[in-house]
Amino acid sequence: MAITITVNGQDHSIDVEPDTPLLWAIRETIGLTGTKFGCGISACGACTVHLNGRAVRSCTLPVSAAEGAAITTIEGLAAGGTLTAVQEAWVTHQVPQCGYCQSGMIMAVTALLAERPHPGDDEIDAAITNICRCGTFARVRRAIHAVAQG
Ligand code: FES
Ligand code: FES
Repeated sequence: MAITITVNGQDHSIDVEPDTPLLWAIRETIGLTGTKFGCGISACGACTVHLNGRAVRSCTLPVSAAEGAAITTIEGLAAGGTLTAVQEAWVTHQVPQCGYCQSGMIMAVTALLAERPHPGDDEIDAAITNICRCGTFARVRRAIHAVAQG
């Protein structure tokens, strides 16, 4: 069945079942592999993308639920090759270790800071529930505060 989704400002008409997870449409059908598969049960956040600016876990979201929405993936953040403030802070504070979870982490943090530009530690802990096997949580928090302070 043909479904049209808009990813990073570009429309894609794709032939998938409506209940296909959005993650597979993004990775396998469209070929944007920056968004990662971790658990497949909405627990780890590796698959986080934005749906109309809101962070969602794409491994459990049916692609049909994303029709008509503006989907942003990690590939869509840096406009014209210029990193966002969050991405810059990730480099400055050397947040990524193996890096596997970090595209989802950056998408979650970007959505949080858009809604709450100066989050406290409790808000960060409540909003950023992404799992990082490398244990980068302290660096994530440090980088978020750096962005908040400008
Ligand atoms: S792969 Fe989606 S939350 Fe883990
Ligand atoms: S940086 Fe390795 S899993 Fe997070």
